[in-house]
Amino acid sequence: MTDDSSNAPARNPPAGQGQAMWGGRFSDKPAELMQAINVSIGFDKRLAAQDLAGSRAHAAMLRTTGVISSEDEAAIQQGLATIEAEIAEGVFPFRDEFEDIHMNVEARLRELIGTPAGRLHTARSRNDQVALDFRMWVRDACDRTVGQLRALQNALLAKAEAHAGDVMPGFTHLQPAQPVTFGHHLMAYVEMFGRDASRFADARARMNECPLGAAALAGSPFPIDRRQTAQALGFDRPTANSLDSTADRDFALEALAAGAICAIHLSRLAEEIVIWMTPQFGFVKLSDAFTTGSSIMPQKKNPDAAELIRAKAGRLLASFQQLAVVMKGLPLTYSKDMQEDKVPTFEAFDALELSLRAMAGMVSDLEPNIANMAKAAGSGFSTATDLADWLVRELGLPFRDAHHATGAAVKRAEELGVELSGLPLDELRKLNPDITSGVYDVLTAEASVASRKSYGGTSPEQVRAQIKRWKEILA
Ligand code: ARG
Repeated sequence: MTDDSSNAPARNPPAGQGQAMWGGRFSDKPAELMQAINVSIGFDKRLAAQDLAGSRAHAAMLRTTGVISSEDEAAIQQGLATIEAEIAEGVFPFRDEFEDIHMNVEARLRELIGTPAGRLHTARSRNDQVALDFRMWVRDACDRTVGQLRALQNALLAKAEAHAGDVMPGFTHLQPAQPVTFGHHLMAYVEMFGRDASRFADARARMNECPLGAAALAGSPFPIDRRQTAQALGFDRPTANSLDSTADRDFALEALAAGAICAIHLSRLAEEIVIWMTPQFGFVKLSDAFTTGSSIMPQKKNPDAAELIRAKAGRLLASFQQLAVVMKGLPLTYSKDMQEDKVPTFEAFDALELSLRAMAGMVSDLEPNIANMAKAAGSGFSTATDLADWLVRELGLPFRDAHHATGAAVKRAEELGVELSGLPLDELRKLNPDITSGVYDVLTAEASVASRKSYGGTSPEQVRAQIKRWKEILA
């Protein structure tokens, strides 16, 4: 907004000289504080690639519809290509006085090609321009995230396949509940991350309409072809309401909501890794690559990556809330509040992408201690439900009675300091005289998981069937 090349505040100079591009009706420069609060180039420079792509498509459309000449379009395209190269080489001058990425690009274009640069903004406003750029950025972020989710799912699948038959305790209330396999447990996350990927894909499909051409808010009097720009930029169609096009940010909210849910899933897995890593559990080991030491306690190996992934869920949840609060009170259409849509969104996806990649690395690195898991799987009376089911199946007891008798067996085992499989037959017969030695076949953790053959159950064959299904989906 300020002009470094002239000290005197000129009155109504041509655009871009001595005043901001919008400065025609202004006589004075904005206050420094105004500039400080207004400027967004520090963060919206991340939209540079999208801004250039949008401008190129817009210029091409202005030419095919006869709004600008071929010569002007050629000059604009050439100038934009130069800017693209400058950005790639890190020599593009991002300048605070031009406020945001849109005006930085246009100002540079004017320096490079002169007058034709001023024709690029015909039939366009920064309102539809920023809506377009940001939408394309979020669309790209969704695509990248799906790729990272797939990589994480593949890491989980490989680990699950290696341990499809290895037993561990399954928990409810973090109390040992019933034995499951480690592969089954990991596959639960494959399902969650699969739904996350489909949420991003759904959000992407819904956001894939092009707002360019909505102009300031009401559309354009020029004979623009919105289908042409939509198609050139990979959109399914143009948006159908110009007010909505400039006012809406629900594409970002939806992506952030999907991100927040995904981060919650990541956080839960991270929490489990933290628990499994404790010497008290001793279920898994991470290599030096994904742990850190303590500066005072030489014995420590801390699961910092898991902890940080767990914590980053806070950022994702906060980002959604931040943008939701920005948007909730805004009348149609654009308000400058909406400039604050970018930082939370950028931060959220930065955190999410890092978390997804770190989690994939950690999952691949994870080495389960099969012996410890098996020992834990067989303890805590984890096969009590199997005993009750056996009483129902073999002796025809109603489940409630079987549940009661099994409870008594657990109590007796506790008194004797043994697991259910260690309870002598005569003790079991005190609870029901018809119990036979065949009951011991169902009281091991291995037998318990093998019996759970229902679709989606934890039997190794079911787990392998799900691994196969997911491999086909991900192939
Ligand atoms: N930097 C602005 C933003 O990010 C661009 C749109 C400005 N539009 C306006 N009418 N001032 O939202």
